[in-house]
Amino acid sequence: MTHDKIERNLGLLFALTLFILLWGGLLEIVPLFFQKSTTTPVPGLKPYTAERLAGRDIYLREGCFNCHSQMIRPFRAETERYGRYSVAGEYVYDHPFQWGSKRTGPDLHRVGGRYSDAWQRAHLINPRDVVPESNMPAFAFLEKTPVDASDIEAKMRALRLVGVPYTDEDIAGAKAALEGKTELDVLVAYLQGLGLEIKDTQ
Ligand code: HEC
Repeated sequence: MTHDKIERNLGLLFALTLFILLWGGLLEIVPLFFQKSTTTPVPGLKPYTAERLAGRDIYLREGCFNCHSQMIRPFRAETERYGRYSVAGEYVYDHPFQWGSKRTGPDLHRVGGRYSDAWQRAHLINPRDVVPESNMPAFAFLEKTPVDASDIEAKMRALRLVGVPYTDEDIAGAKAALEGKTELDVLVAYLQGLGLEIKDTQ
């Protein structure tokens, strides 16, 4: 009887459908905010150093995420190519996440230590010098641009507000850590630290 009523009343049907969808969505999503496996950092995970944090901002500014994901899925084809699959606890200090889904280039989640610093620098300055068939853009200007350190302390304080455990000393030393560095230096530092926490337990 009630069902008949709902099926014949479009407004009521719509409202109840919406209610069920929203309720179902909340039930699926909200527990994730409290689940240990998504909120506990993996052992060894440290907040980004000032240098790597600045490098990460260059990564965002240059839109590297448009071509590179940072999430290795638990499939054999992926783990054989990129290394151990990614887990949520590795991203606890990432605001925002760089998971991505577009892979014009390879996934970068475990690229840290895969190449030397010199390779990374040469590749960013002109990818064709080391990978002749590459269609990745060149970022040579990064080598000539000093890194802007003026807002690094404010950024670290903002991250602390959302739960990244920076100490007062970390923040006080941030500007000095960026002194004399170019944008290329900090971007390479960022890349070289990616995914190292559980690399060896593959
Ligand atoms: C237009 C797409 C595109 C953009 C934008 C792009 N890349 Fe790439 N990237 C590629 C492609 C394609 C490759 C594979 C060929 C090569 O190694 O150059 C690659 C390869 C790489 C590699 C080597 C990965 C490996 O495992 O061999 C790194 C590191 C990298 N890119 C970093 C970056 C960074 C940092 C940025 C931003 C400054 C960036 N890329 C922007 C397309 C892109």
